[in-house]
Amino acid sequence: MAKSLISAERGIKMTTMNILYISLEGNTRSFINRLSRFAKQQNIINKNNPLIHAKEIEPQTLPASELAPFFVFVPTYLTGGNGIDSGFTEIMTNSLGEYIEEGNNAKYCIGVVGSGNRNFNEQYCLTARKYAKLFNAPFLDNYELRGTSRDVERIYGVLSREWTKREKD
Ligand SMILES: Cc1cc2nc3c(=O)[nH]c(=O)nc-3n(C[C@H](O)[C@H](O)[C@H](O)COP(=O)(O)O)c2cc1C
Repeated sequence: MAKSLISAERGIKMTTMNILYISLEGNTRSFINRLSRFAKQQNIINKNNPLIHAKEIEPQTLPASELAPFFVFVPTYLTGGNGIDSGFTEIMTNSLGEYIEEGNNAKYCIGVVGSGNRNFNEQYCLTARKYAKLFNAPFLDNYELRGTSRDVERIYGVLSREWTKREKD
């Protein structure tokens, strides 16, 4: 169930979107922080615009049961290869994949956003594409490195639409 509160006085629905992410060098963390700030601004403008609750998964994070739908943000770290017939081996981000695989968590994964560096050509965002298949969730969007303000705005829109769609189902 989505985490939502109804304001008794004004009938306004306040929703919070959940995100799980991992960040080894800080780019994804920076993106999520900017996305969360953007969500707060949007929520001030209109209370129907969802806020963000983000949880960073680190190698020392203990397994836990997720009880509500979440989006996944994952950067790409693969061993050398070309993404076509080699280079599929995931390094560094495995603790996020293992966290999602734990118990029933995967069934709450409702979309994956990837990041990476286009210099990696065919391997660009490959981990997110792999997670989308593995966890049977849509690959929603992607951005490079820390992402731009336009990426933040676009991806907030993509997530909000996906979240709202689910609430109506
Ligand atoms: C060792 C290493 C391997 C990488 N492999 C890929 C790759 O295969 N594909 C890709 O798109 N980006 C690749 N990247 C780029 C990272 O995904 C990118 O820098 C990302 O923004 C890192 O996110 P983070 O700072 O949150 O850890 C690699 C970076 C490093 C350092």
